[in-house]
Amino acid sequence: MSELKQRRNAPRGYVDNTSAKHSHGTSGNAARADRIAWWRIVIRITLTLLALNICLSFLITETPFWGHKSKWTNWRNYIPRKQRVFTQLELAQYDGTDPEKPILLAIEGDVYDVTLGSGFYGPGSSYHLFAGRDASRAFGTNCLSRKDHLTHDTRGLSEGELAGIRGWHRLFDNHQQYVKVGVVNLDPIDPNSPIPPPCDGAKAKPI
Ligand code: HEM
Repeated sequence: MSELKQRRNAPRGYVDNTSAKHSHGTSGNAARADRIAWWRIVIRITLTLLALNICLSFLITETPFWGHKSKWTNWRNYIPRKQRVFTQLELAQYDGTDPEKPILLAIEGDVYDVTLGSGFYGPGSSYHLFAGRDASRAFGTNCLSRKDHLTHDTRGLSEGELAGIRGWHRLFDNHQQYVKVGVVNLDPIDPNSPIPPPCDGAKAKPI
């Protein structure tokens, strides 16, 4: 029997819920489809604006994010990297003297690949003395002319000098071109060994 006939034959007071259910289901589906369509539009507009923004930034600053550079604007930092634990002797092999190996430096025990900064850290460059070791002390005291400051021994440093080390550490951590590759197991400092004397009088400039 057709639906119309069924309805005609139905007793008085009978309420047919099926059509209400159907229309409710249909309008529910339509509402959901509408929402999805809106989200699609929003996502499309956002992606288009993002692409336009990157293109404009490239045209004006030749960088994708208006000159902003940090580790997050470096695609290499999105590749999960196995972190290695170095001994100090192992780290020393990465001071740039072997062109086949990357240039690594450590600060406060964290090891960074600074090969892209070879102009700073390669052999013969001003900051080569930082390569292949943890010379945190020199980062704090700015004393690049004394070998005894090229150490991870930070005993006796002032708050300002320690803050200086942390500042350099942040620079390496957020640097657009450098990546953290592991940590170095630093030899414990003998508490009875003499604290390196301050740099006063010695050249604070790079050697
Ligand atoms: C007369 C003193 C100094 C001058 C004129 C000087 C100058 C410079 C210049 C021009 C740069 C290049 C900046 C760049 O292009 O991004 C640089 C980088 C650097 N300086 Fe100095 N500097 C001096 C002292 C020092 C000292 C005492 C330290 C030790 C803490 C130091 C550590 C560094 C490091 C680690 C970099 C490389 C940063 C990187 O890898 O991006 N400098 N310096």
